Amino acid sequence: MKSNPCARALQRKNVILGIESSCDESAAAIYHSEHGLLAHALHSQVALHADYGGVVPELASRDHIRKLMPLIEQVTHEAGAPQLTGIAYTRGPGLVGALLVGASIAAGLGMSRGLPVLGVHHMEGHLLSPLLEQRRPAFPFVALLVSGGHTLLVRVDGVGRYSVLGESLDDAVGEAFDKCAKMLALGYPGGPALAELAANGRRDAHDFPRPMLKRPGLDFSFSGLKTAVMLAVKAADDTPQAHADIAASFEQAVVDTLVAKCARALKQTGLSRLVVAGGVGANRHLRDTLAERGERDGFELYFPQSQFCTDNAAMIALAGSLRAEEMHSGIASADAVARWPLDTLTVPGVQSA
Ligand code: KG4
Ligand code: ZN
Repeated sequence: MKSNPCARALQRKNVILGIESSCDESAAAIYHSEHGLLAHALHSQVALHADYGGVVPELASRDHIRKLMPLIEQVTHEAGAPQLTGIAYTRGPGLVGALLVGASIAAGLGMSRGLPVLGVHHMEGHLLSPLLEQRRPAFPFVALLVSGGHTLLVRVDGVGRYSVLGESLDDAVGEAFDKCAKMLALGYPGGPALAELAANGRRDAHDFPRPMLKRPGLDFSFSGLKTAVMLAVKAADDTPQAHADIAASFEQAVVDTLVAKCARALKQTGLSRLVVAGGVGANRHLRDTLAERGERDGFELYFPQSQFCTDNAAMIALAGSLRAEEMHSGIASADAVARWPLDTLTVPGVQSA
Protein backbone atom coordinates (compact mmCIF):
# COMPACT_ATOMS: atom_id res chain seq x y z
CA MET A 1 0.00 0.00 0.00
CA LYS A 2 1.29 3.49 -0.86
CA SER A 3 1.73 5.60 2.26
CA ASN A 4 0.40 9.12 2.46
CA PRO A 5 3.28 11.63 2.81
CA CYS A 6 1.21 13.85 5.15
CA ALA A 7 0.48 10.91 7.43
CA ARG A 8 4.17 9.94 7.33
CA ALA A 9 5.19 13.45 8.41
CA LEU A 10 2.64 13.37 11.19
CA GLN A 11 3.80 10.00 12.46
CA ARG A 12 7.36 11.18 13.02
CA LYS A 13 7.69 12.98 16.34
CA ASN A 14 9.01 16.51 16.00
CA VAL A 15 9.39 19.58 18.20
CA ILE A 16 9.50 22.78 16.19
CA LEU A 17 10.44 26.35 17.08
CA GLY A 18 8.31 28.76 15.00
CA ILE A 19 9.34 32.35 14.24
CA GLU A 20 7.00 35.00 12.75
CA SER A 21 8.16 38.43 11.57
CA SER A 22 6.29 39.14 8.31
CA CYS A 23 4.78 42.47 9.35
CA ASP A 24 4.25 44.24 12.66
CA GLU A 25 4.17 41.33 15.10
CA SER A 26 7.28 39.59 16.45
CA ALA A 27 6.36 36.12 17.65
CA ALA A 28 7.87 32.79 18.71
CA ALA A 29 6.26 29.45 19.58
CA ILE A 30 7.14 25.80 20.16
CA TYR A 31 4.89 23.08 18.73
CA HIS A 32 5.18 19.37 19.62
CA SER A 33 3.77 16.95 17.04
CA GLU A 34 2.27 14.75 19.80
CA HIS A 35 1.49 17.19 22.61
CA GLY A 36 0.49 20.23 20.53
CA LEU A 37 1.43 23.81 21.34
CA LEU A 38 3.91 23.98 24.24
CA ALA A 39 4.39 27.75 24.41
CA HIS A 40 3.84 30.90 22.39
CA ALA A 41 4.69 34.58 22.86
CA LEU A 42 4.12 37.71 20.85
CA HIS A 43 5.14 41.34 20.83
CA SER A 44 2.86 43.71 18.91
CA GLN A 45 4.41 46.81 17.33
CA VAL A 46 1.10 48.71 17.35
CA ALA A 47 2.36 51.46 19.66
CA LEU A 48 5.52 51.88 17.57
CA HIS A 49 3.62 52.57 14.33
CA ALA A 50 0.54 54.32 15.77
CA ASP A 51 1.83 57.88 15.21
CA TYR A 52 2.40 57.14 11.52
CA GLY A 53 -1.09 55.72 10.84
CA GLY A 54 0.35 52.49 9.41
CA VAL A 55 3.33 50.14 9.45
CA VAL A 56 6.72 51.77 8.75
CA PRO A 57 8.79 48.90 7.29
CA GLU A 58 12.20 50.10 8.52
CA LEU A 59 10.93 50.56 12.08
CA ALA A 60 9.28 47.13 11.90
CA SER A 61 12.57 45.43 10.89
CA ARG A 62 14.54 47.14 13.67
CA ASP A 63 11.97 46.17 16.28
CA HIS A 64 12.01 42.51 15.15
CA ILE A 65 15.80 42.59 15.71
CA ARG A 66 15.23 43.81 19.28
CA LYS A 67 12.34 41.52 20.20
CA LEU A 68 12.70 38.15 18.49
CA MET A 69 15.58 36.65 20.51
CA PRO A 70 14.01 37.51 23.91
CA LEU A 71 10.71 35.99 22.70
CA ILE A 72 12.51 32.82 21.60
CA GLU A 73 14.21 32.62 25.00
CA GLN A 74 10.85 33.14 26.71
CA VAL A 75 9.05 30.31 24.87
CA THR A 76 12.03 28.00 25.31
CA HIS A 77 11.88 28.59 29.07
CA GLU A 78 8.05 28.30 29.23
CA ALA A 79 8.07 25.05 27.25
CA GLY A 80 10.63 23.56 29.69
CA ALA A 81 13.60 23.80 27.28
CA PRO A 82 12.56 20.80 25.13
CA GLN A 83 14.95 19.15 22.68
CA LEU A 84 14.05 20.88 19.41
CA THR A 85 14.10 18.93 16.15
CA GLY A 86 13.74 21.88 13.76
CA ILE A 87 13.08 25.56 13.19
CA ALA A 88 10.30 27.03 11.00
CA TYR A 89 10.19 30.71 10.14
CA THR A 90 7.92 32.82 7.92
CA ARG A 91 9.67 33.05 4.53
CA GLY A 92 6.92 35.16 2.89
CA PRO A 93 4.79 36.85 1.78
CA GLY A 94 5.32 40.04 3.76
CA LEU A 95 7.66 43.01 4.25
CA VAL A 96 10.98 41.75 2.99
CA GLY A 97 13.13 43.54 5.57
CA ALA A 98 10.98 42.25 8.41
CA LEU A 99 11.00 38.73 6.96
CA LEU A 100 14.80 38.80 6.61
CA VAL A 101 15.19 39.34 10.36
CA GLY A 102 13.27 36.13 11.16
CA ALA A 103 15.03 34.29 8.33
CA SER A 104 18.50 35.36 9.58
CA ILE A 105 17.74 34.34 13.15
CA ALA A 106 16.40 30.97 11.96
CA ALA A 107 19.49 30.37 9.80
CA GLY A 108 21.84 31.43 12.61
CA LEU A 109 20.13 29.29 15.26
CA GLY A 110 19.97 26.36 12.86
CA MET A 111 23.72 26.57 12.21
CA SER A 112 24.73 27.08 15.82
CA ARG A 113 22.48 24.36 17.24
CA GLY A 114 22.77 21.90 14.35
CA LEU A 115 19.03 22.03 13.61
CA PRO A 116 17.31 21.83 10.22
CA VAL A 117 15.37 24.91 9.07
CA LEU A 118 12.32 25.49 6.89
CA GLY A 119 10.84 28.70 5.44
CA VAL A 120 7.04 28.54 5.79
CA HIS A 121 4.36 30.35 3.75
CA HIS A 122 2.60 32.85 6.02
CA MET A 123 -0.83 32.17 4.50
CA GLU A 124 -0.37 28.41 4.83
CA GLY A 125 0.17 29.13 8.52
CA HIS A 126 -3.15 31.00 8.67
CA LEU A 127 -4.85 28.28 6.60
CA LEU A 128 -3.75 25.49 8.95
CA SER A 129 -4.23 27.50 12.18
CA PRO A 130 -7.63 25.87 13.02
CA LEU A 131 -5.63 22.64 13.44
CA LEU A 132 -4.21 24.17 16.64
CA GLU A 133 -7.63 23.71 18.27
CA GLN A 134 -9.06 20.63 20.02
CA ARG A 135 -11.96 20.60 17.55
CA ARG A 136 -10.05 20.31 14.29
CA PRO A 137 -11.52 20.26 10.78
CA ALA A 138 -10.93 17.12 8.73
CA PHE A 139 -9.79 17.52 5.10
CA PRO A 140 -11.17 18.50 2.64
CA PHE A 141 -12.51 21.93 3.54
CA VAL A 142 -13.05 25.40 2.12
CA ALA A 143 -10.97 28.13 3.78
CA LEU A 144 -11.76 31.83 3.85
CA LEU A 145 -8.48 33.66 4.49
CA VAL A 146 -9.07 37.26 5.44
CA SER A 147 -6.10 39.33 6.53
CA GLY A 148 -4.57 42.77 6.04
CA GLY A 149 -2.90 41.69 2.80
CA HIS A 150 -5.08 38.87 1.46
CA THR A 151 -8.68 37.87 0.80
CA LEU A 152 -8.77 34.33 -0.51
CA LEU A 153 -11.20 31.43 -0.80
CA VAL A 154 -9.21 28.21 -1.00
CA ARG A 155 -10.15 24.57 -1.44
CA VAL A 156 -7.91 22.57 0.91
CA ASP A 157 -7.59 18.85 0.23
CA GLY A 158 -4.62 18.31 2.55
CA VAL A 159 -1.34 19.91 3.59
CA GLY A 160 0.07 21.55 0.45
CA ARG A 161 -2.99 20.69 -1.64
CA TYR A 162 -4.50 24.12 -2.17
CA SER A 163 -6.61 25.44 -5.04
CA VAL A 164 -7.46 29.13 -4.96
CA LEU A 165 -11.17 29.47 -5.77
CA GLY A 166 -11.42 33.25 -5.53
CA GLU A 167 -9.51 36.31 -4.35
CA SER A 168 -9.77 40.06 -4.07
CA LEU A 169 -9.19 41.94 -7.30
CA ASP A 170 -8.15 45.07 -5.40
CA ASP A 171 -8.02 45.81 -1.65
CA ALA A 172 -7.83 42.99 0.88
CA VAL A 173 -10.72 43.00 3.31
CA GLY A 174 -8.49 43.86 6.30
CA GLU A 175 -7.08 46.74 4.28
CA ALA A 176 -10.65 47.97 3.62
CA PHE A 177 -11.33 47.83 7.38
CA ASP A 178 -8.12 49.76 8.05
CA LYS A 179 -8.79 52.42 5.39
CA CYS A 180 -12.39 52.99 6.49
CA ALA A 181 -11.22 53.22 10.09
CA LYS A 182 -8.74 55.90 9.03
CA MET A 183 -11.56 57.87 7.35
CA LEU A 184 -13.41 57.72 10.66
CA ALA A 185 -10.26 58.90 12.49
CA LEU A 186 -10.01 55.63 14.42
CA GLY A 187 -6.23 55.35 14.02
CA TYR A 188 -4.18 52.25 13.33
CA PRO A 189 -4.79 49.32 13.28
CA GLY A 190 -8.35 50.06 12.31
CA GLY A 191 -10.13 46.70 12.13
CA PRO A 192 -10.78 46.07 15.84
CA ALA A 193 -11.57 49.76 16.52
CA LEU A 194 -14.03 49.90 13.63
CA ALA A 195 -15.71 46.69 14.82
CA GLU A 196 -16.07 48.17 18.30
CA LEU A 197 -17.62 51.39 16.95
CA ALA A 198 -19.96 49.36 14.69
CA ALA A 199 -21.49 47.68 17.75
CA ASN A 200 -23.19 51.03 18.58
CA GLY A 201 -24.39 51.77 15.07
CA ARG A 202 -27.39 50.94 12.89
CA ARG A 203 -26.48 48.34 10.30
CA ASP A 204 -29.14 49.55 7.85
CA ALA A 205 -28.35 53.27 8.15
CA HIS A 206 -26.48 53.25 4.80
CA ASP A 207 -27.14 50.99 1.85
CA PHE A 208 -23.50 50.38 0.90
CA PRO A 209 -22.72 48.19 -2.13
CA ARG A 210 -22.25 44.43 -1.66
CA PRO A 211 -19.41 44.14 -4.20
CA MET A 212 -19.50 41.43 -6.90
CA LEU A 213 -22.48 39.63 -5.37
CA LYS A 214 -24.62 39.87 -8.48
CA ARG A 215 -21.83 38.49 -10.68
CA PRO A 216 -21.05 34.78 -10.79
CA GLY A 217 -17.74 33.53 -9.43
CA LEU A 218 -15.86 33.74 -6.16
CA ASP A 219 -13.67 36.83 -6.56
CA PHE A 220 -14.01 39.88 -4.32
CA SER A 221 -13.59 43.62 -4.78
CA PHE A 222 -13.62 46.13 -1.94
CA SER A 223 -12.48 49.39 -3.57
CA GLY A 224 -16.02 50.47 -4.57
CA LEU A 225 -17.25 49.92 -1.03
CA LYS A 226 -14.34 51.97 0.28
CA THR A 227 -15.29 54.86 -2.04
CA ALA A 228 -18.95 54.66 -0.92
CA VAL A 229 -17.79 54.91 2.71
CA MET A 230 -15.58 57.91 1.87
CA LEU A 231 -18.55 59.74 0.31
CA ALA A 232 -20.76 58.87 3.29
CA VAL A 233 -18.14 60.19 5.74
CA LYS A 234 -17.92 63.48 3.81
CA ALA A 235 -21.72 63.88 3.79
CA ALA A 236 -22.34 62.80 7.40
CA ASP A 237 -22.64 64.94 10.53
CA ASP A 238 -19.51 64.87 12.64
CA THR A 239 -21.22 63.07 15.55
CA PRO A 240 -20.37 59.77 17.28
CA GLN A 241 -23.73 58.28 16.22
CA ALA A 242 -23.24 59.21 12.55
CA HIS A 243 -19.79 57.62 12.61
CA ALA A 244 -21.08 54.49 14.36
CA ASP A 245 -23.84 54.16 11.72
CA ILE A 246 -21.27 54.29 8.92
CA ALA A 247 -19.05 51.74 10.70
CA ALA A 248 -21.99 49.37 11.29
CA SER A 249 -23.28 49.66 7.72
CA PHE A 250 -19.77 49.10 6.33
CA GLU A 251 -19.23 46.04 8.53
CA GLN A 252 -22.61 44.67 7.47
CA ALA A 253 -21.77 45.09 3.75
CA VAL A 254 -18.44 43.27 4.23
CA VAL A 255 -19.99 40.47 6.29
CA ASP A 256 -22.87 39.97 3.81
CA THR A 257 -20.36 39.75 0.96
CA LEU A 258 -18.01 37.32 2.71
CA VAL A 259 -20.84 35.08 3.96
CA ALA A 260 -22.52 34.91 0.54
CA LYS A 261 -19.24 34.01 -1.20
CA CYS A 262 -18.44 31.33 1.41
CA ALA A 263 -21.89 29.78 0.90
CA ARG A 264 -21.34 29.90 -2.85
CA ALA A 265 -17.89 28.25 -2.55
CA LEU A 266 -19.32 25.44 -0.40
CA LYS A 267 -22.11 24.86 -2.89
CA GLN A 268 -19.73 24.92 -5.86
CA THR A 269 -17.28 22.44 -4.29
CA GLY A 270 -19.93 20.28 -2.64
CA LEU A 271 -17.97 20.49 0.63
CA SER A 272 -19.55 20.97 4.04
CA ARG A 273 -16.70 22.29 6.21
CA LEU A 274 -15.68 25.95 6.30
CA VAL A 275 -12.54 27.27 7.97
CA VAL A 276 -12.10 31.00 8.60
CA ALA A 277 -8.66 32.37 9.43
CA GLY A 278 -6.57 35.55 9.24
CA GLY A 279 -6.93 38.78 11.22
CA VAL A 280 -10.45 39.66 10.05
CA GLY A 281 -11.50 36.17 11.18
CA ALA A 282 -11.36 37.65 14.70
CA ASN A 283 -14.36 39.84 13.79
CA ARG A 284 -17.26 38.92 16.07
CA HIS A 285 -20.06 39.96 13.68
CA LEU A 286 -18.51 37.84 10.89
CA ARG A 287 -18.24 34.84 13.23
CA ASP A 288 -21.82 35.15 14.49
CA THR A 289 -23.30 35.64 11.02
CA LEU A 290 -21.38 32.68 9.59
CA ALA A 291 -22.50 30.52 12.51
CA GLU A 292 -26.16 31.40 11.81
CA ARG A 293 -25.71 30.69 8.10
CA GLY A 294 -24.00 27.38 8.93
CA GLU A 295 -26.97 26.27 10.99
CA ARG A 296 -29.32 27.22 8.20
CA ASP A 297 -27.31 25.69 5.32
CA GLY A 298 -25.92 22.74 7.27
CA PHE A 299 -22.19 23.39 7.07
CA GLU A 300 -19.67 23.02 9.88
CA LEU A 301 -17.67 26.06 10.87
CA TYR A 302 -14.11 26.11 12.27
CA PHE A 303 -12.12 29.06 13.60
CA PRO A 304 -8.83 29.33 15.41
CA GLN A 305 -9.05 31.18 18.74
CA SER A 306 -9.00 34.95 18.13
CA GLN A 307 -5.35 35.19 19.29
CA PHE A 308 -4.37 32.73 16.53
CA CYS A 309 -6.49 34.50 13.87
CA THR A 310 -4.17 37.48 13.83
CA ASP A 311 -0.47 37.00 13.12
CA ASN A 312 1.28 34.59 15.49
CA ALA A 313 4.09 32.04 15.55
CA ALA A 314 2.00 29.08 16.75
CA MET A 315 0.63 28.66 13.22
CA ILE A 316 4.17 28.85 11.76
CA ALA A 317 5.49 26.20 14.18
CA LEU A 318 2.46 24.00 13.35
CA ALA A 319 3.00 24.38 9.58
CA GLY A 320 6.68 23.53 10.15
CA SER A 321 5.69 20.45 12.13
CA LEU A 322 3.44 19.24 9.29
CA ARG A 323 6.27 19.86 6.81
CA ALA A 324 9.08 18.64 9.08
CA GLU A 325 10.45 16.24 6.48
CA GLU A 326 11.22 19.17 4.16
CA MET A 327 13.56 20.83 6.64
CA HIS A 328 17.13 21.41 5.51
CA SER A 329 20.30 21.38 7.56
CA GLY A 330 23.26 23.65 6.99
CA ILE A 331 21.31 26.70 5.79
CA ALA A 332 23.83 29.51 6.22
CA SER A 333 22.01 32.42 4.59
CA ALA A 334 18.63 34.04 5.10
CA ASP A 335 15.95 33.37 2.48
CA ALA A 336 12.80 35.51 2.30
CA VAL A 337 10.34 36.54 -0.42
CA ALA A 338 7.90 39.47 -0.48
CA ARG A 339 5.54 37.67 -2.88
CA TRP A 340 4.78 33.94 -2.95
CA PRO A 341 1.59 32.55 -4.55
CA LEU A 342 -0.12 30.07 -2.22
CA ASP A 343 -1.06 27.57 -4.93
CA THR A 344 2.59 27.00 -5.89
CA LEU A 345 3.09 25.04 -2.63
CA THR A 346 3.41 21.27 -2.88
CA VAL A 347 2.45 18.31 -0.73
CA PRO A 348 5.16 17.57 1.92
CA GLY A 349 7.68 15.10 0.57
CA VAL A 350 6.57 15.64 -3.05
CA GLN A 351 8.82 17.81 -5.23
CA SER A 352 7.19 20.37 -7.54
CA ALA A 353 7.28 19.57 -11.26
O1 KG4 B 1 -3.63 38.26 9.66
P1 KG4 B 1 -3.30 39.60 10.20
O2 KG4 B 1 -3.00 39.73 11.68
O3 KG4 B 1 -2.06 40.22 9.47
C1 KG4 B 1 -1.84 40.05 8.11
O4 KG4 B 1 -1.28 38.99 7.74
O5 KG4 B 1 -2.27 40.97 7.38
O6 KG4 B 1 -4.51 40.58 9.80
C2 KG4 B 1 -4.50 41.94 10.16
C3 KG4 B 1 -5.78 42.57 9.65
C4 KG4 B 1 -5.77 44.10 9.83
O7 KG4 B 1 -6.23 44.67 8.62
C5 KG4 B 1 -6.76 44.31 10.97
O8 KG4 B 1 -7.40 45.57 10.91
C6 KG4 B 1 -7.73 43.16 10.75
O9 KG4 B 1 -6.91 42.07 10.39
N1 KG4 B 1 -8.49 42.83 11.96
C7 KG4 B 1 -9.83 42.96 12.07
C8 KG4 B 1 -10.18 42.56 13.40
N2 KG4 B 1 -9.03 42.20 14.04
C9 KG4 B 1 -8.01 42.36 13.14
N3 KG4 B 1 -10.76 43.37 11.19
C10 KG4 B 1 -12.03 43.39 11.58
N4 KG4 B 1 -12.45 43.04 12.83
C11 KG4 B 1 -11.56 42.62 13.76
N5 KG4 B 1 -11.98 42.28 14.99
ZN1 ZN C 1 -1.30 37.29 8.60
